[in-house]
Amino acid sequence: MSSSEELEYPQKLLDYSDGFLISKAMFTACDLGVFDLLHEVQEPISTATIASRLNTNVDGMASLLGVCVGLGLLKVDMKNNEGYYSNTEVSSLYLVKSSPRTLYHTMMFHSNVMYMCCYFLPQAVREGKCQYERALGIPSKGIFETMYRSEESLLAFINYMDSIWNICGKDVIRAFDLSMFHTVCDLGGCSGNLAKQLVSTYKESTVTIMDLPKVVQTAKKHFVKDTEQKIHFLEGDFFNDPIPEADLYIMARIIHDWTEEKCLGLLRKIYQSCRPGGGVLLVEVLLNEDKSGPLSSQIWSLKMLVLAEGKERTPSEYTKLLTDSGFRDIECKVTGKIYDAVMGRK
Ligand SMILES: C[S@@+](CC[C@H](N)C(=O)[O-])C[C@H]1O[C@@H](n2cnc3c(N)ncnc32)[C@H](O)[C@@H]1O
Repeated sequence: MSSSEELEYPQKLLDYSDGFLISKAMFTACDLGVFDLLHEVQEPISTATIASRLNTNVDGMASLLGVCVGLGLLKVDMKNNEGYYSNTEVSSLYLVKSSPRTLYHTMMFHSNVMYMCCYFLPQAVREGKCQYERALGIPSKGIFETMYRSEESLLAFINYMDSIWNICGKDVIRAFDLSMFHTVCDLGGCSGNLAKQLVSTYKESTVTIMDLPKVVQTAKKHFVKDTEQKIHFLEGDFFNDPIPEADLYIMARIIHDWTEEKCLGLLRKIYQSCRPGGGVLLVEVLLNEDKSGPLSSQIWSLKMLVLAEGKERTPSEYTKLLTDSGFRDIECKVTGKIYDAVMGRK
């Protein structure tokens, strides 16, 4: 219900209308290297120095730095009427590209792909489909064909997928006690970061990551070291190739990519390969049962519309998908971070 204050002066709506500029200012500062430069110099520097080091216009940079200060991404100290800028703690930790907890690749994916596709949100809502052709000028059948069209875009996507698990991977891996599952198969396991979190938490488990050949080759080359003996890879297509036998199947951010029909087909196939007593762990953002929120999950559903074929779901929608595929004892755990966990048993 609207408050009388809100009806008197619609501050919230004015803020919402600027929301895209908040995202774009943060993306631009990442893209131009503002946070990386300030990290490198390790002392407050002036607008003119930043503009000169990053080859930008001084007034343009001044406006961008101002917004970053307003957003709490930069600090400013005034000396002789001139501003000297430095990173805040949150930017140092999450926006500097070299930080172990960096979200730089998330920002770049949102800027270069999501932002472009969302320009065509009206068309996506009207047509109910992804918008790569209009947004990126690439005739495309779907998300992975688009993301894996070049080495550069493949790496950008895998880096984006990888980054979040340094921040909340442990939360989803610990949402349920997985210690009894020794043979784990991570379907669409991508860079292997969630698998790393799993084997470091459950010492007796080994993980096989099944993913498309290009992804497996890139993950082996850039993301998972040979010394990581508890992680193995399998090149394959989970829709068309046999799925290896395992005690536990992890599917993180897989179900939300696909139509109901494809999800059911895949889950039934997994059920057939799953050992008795085994299970499946879905890692997704959960919607409230009455679909009233959380806003971040509702927004994820919109992102899946412009990027893929899927959507986000409520606990009872996941329960139905899993029970219709043969699984039982379904449990949903909200982690309090971005991704939640749903477990089903065979
Ligand atoms: C949204 S990403 C999620 C990646 C990873 N699970 C994570 O959460 O970081 C979907 C993953 O599924 C993989 N994938 C898509 N279609 C596939 C298929 N038919 N067979 C195997 N893997 C597939 C993609 O390559 C990608 O790694």
